[in-house]
Amino acid sequence: MTGPLSLAPGVVLWKTLLARAGQESMAADIESVIRQAPLFTPRMPQTLKPFSVRMSNCGELGWISDARGYRYERTHPDTGRPWPAIPDSILSIWRRVANTAAQPEACLVNFYDPVARMGLHQDRDEADLAAPIVSISLGDSGRFRFGRSVRGGKTQSVLLESGDVMVFGGPARLMFHGVDKILPGSSTLLPEGGRINLTLRRVSGPGKQSPHGSSGESQ
Ligand code: SIN
Ligand code: MN
Repeated sequence: MTGPLSLAPGVVLWKTLLARAGQESMAADIESVIRQAPLFTPRMPQTLKPFSVRMSNCGELGWISDARGYRYERTHPDTGRPWPAIPDSILSIWRRVANTAAQPEACLVNFYDPVARMGLHQDRDEADLAAPIVSISLGDSGRFRFGRSVRGGKTQSVLLESGDVMVFGGPARLMFHGVDKILPGSSTLLPEGGRINLTLRRVSGPGKQSPHGSSGESQ
C-alpha cells in the first residue's frame, strides 16, 4: 500500500489497499455471493446485444440491464431471489475510503474473462450523487480509462491490479470510464483467471428508500 494517489480532481487510487490475504478472503466472499446469485449476462436495452462482462450483485439493490432499460432491482433477474448481503470484507473497504456516513446500497460484481471489456460510460442511475463510487479490483489487471463528465475530450488510463481500490466522487462522480482490456495471466488470485471488479454505490436520494431507475447510457 502506497497511500492514496490523486489521479485527477475527485479521483483517488489506493494501490494494493488489500494485501494478498485480504484479496483471498474477499474472493472467497464473492464466490459465495455468486453461488447464491449466479452471474448473468446483461443486454443493451435497445439492441439486446449482450455485454461481454457477466454480472451479479449484492446489497439491497442490484444493477441490471435488459430490454426494459438500465435500472436497480431488489431481486436477481433469473432466480427472482433477493440479492445476498454485502460481505463485511467489502463494507469495511467502503468505510475506510468513502468518506461518508451513508452505507452502500448496491455492490455490482463484474466478471471479466480474458476478452471482456467495458465501453466508456457514466454511472448515473443513482439518485444520490453525493456519495462516491468505490471500485475494488481482484484477479487479473485491467486497463481502466477515464475522462471528464462530458463525452469526448481527453481521457487517461491507469492499470488496476488485484487489491487496488479506486474512489471517484465529487467533481468526478459522473466521469466517463471504462475498461479497455484485461491482461490475462497477470494475477494468480483467481484459479480460473479473469478479473473481478466490485463497485459500491449509494442509490437512493437522501431520505428516499425506493430504487431509482432511468434510461440513457450508464452503468
Ligand atoms: C464499472 O464501471 O462498472 C466497472 C469498472 C471496472 O471494471 O473497473
Ligand atoms: Mn461504471
